Amino acid sequence: MNDNNLIIKIENLSHAYGAQQKTIPIIENFSLDIQMGRVTVLIGPSGCGKSTLARLIAGFEKPDGGSILMHGKTVRGPSPERLVVFQESALFLWMSTLKNISFGPDSRGESSPGAENIVQKMLEKVGLNSFSKKFPSQLSGGMQRRAELARALVNGPKVMILDEPFRGLDAMSKALMQQHFIRLMANSLISCIFITSDIDEAVLLADQIVITTNKPLKVAAKFDVTIQKPRSTKKLVESDEANKLKFQALEVLHKEAMKSFASGSKAAEDFLRAYSIRNN
Ligand SMILES: Nc1ncnc2c1ncn2[C@@H]1O[C@H](COP(=O)(O)OP(=O)(O)OP(=O)(O)O)[C@@H](O)[C@H]1O
Ligand SMILES: [Mg+2]
Repeated sequence: MNDNNLIIKIENLSHAYGAQQKTIPIIENFSLDIQMGRVTVLIGPSGCGKSTLARLIAGFEKPDGGSILMHGKTVRGPSPERLVVFQESALFLWMSTLKNISFGPDSRGESSPGAENIVQKMLEKVGLNSFSKKFPSQLSGGMQRRAELARALVNGPKVMILDEPFRGLDAMSKALMQQHFIRLMANSLISCIFITSDIDEAVLLADQIVITTNKPLKVAAKFDVTIQKPRSTKKLVESDEANKLKFQALEVLHKEAMKSFASGSKAAEDFLRAYSIRNN
């Protein structure tokens, strides 16, 4: 892939938290290239710093070290070019679906028939046109996630950062949302950074899988996913290529998750050591 396709370049990123001094490193020496129009899936153990990375790329926080460049320019703050769909629902509870989705154009004062048309088309695209007047509390979990996707997409972002967008949905709704996401993104030029902790979701959606270490977050391994599209869970179960990739990725992920599970607890470390010794 040549450099013309590069949209985001993250180099030697580091970030730390801590009440007095910044003593808890969360991200360390993290470097990654994001290619235009591709889905990069970040997968790592719980609490490893994925959402922190999402906030840094979105520009909500400034990194302590290293750089995030979009089209060669340093990211200095949030922008409608780089939008986030958060881990927790962030719909405005007091606004209808329509008002939530048109929030971006409305707040920029774009009230032309053209802008309204884009919102209307987006409502249809995510299958919520008959729910436009309903409030978030009147929508199912899956509908709320679709409204959030639509609220970001109407702004025509170049980059979407999706932070575990389907976490918490039941298995059936999650599968439907994944297929919906695949259809929405088909032939799209939007570059997605999709965060998950679900390896099956990663193999289903990714062009590139990046496995991260436990805190401090670094790149543990990268895999290009060349499995033919459109993909479906059913096809992947029967695909040798998908299963091989899944097991390679799981091996790295398992090691990182175990470290995360045990970190800070001598008892947990001893437990893991004892249980991982083979008897042969
Ligand atoms: N604003 C903050 N101030 C201090 N510590 C923070 C802050 N935000 C996150 N952390 C800490 O940074 C670490 C990484 O948190 P983060 O939410 O980025 O992880 P994550 O990988 O997204 O976790 P999860 O899998 O649970 O979503 C955690 O130990 C968390 O407690
Ligand atoms: Mg998170």
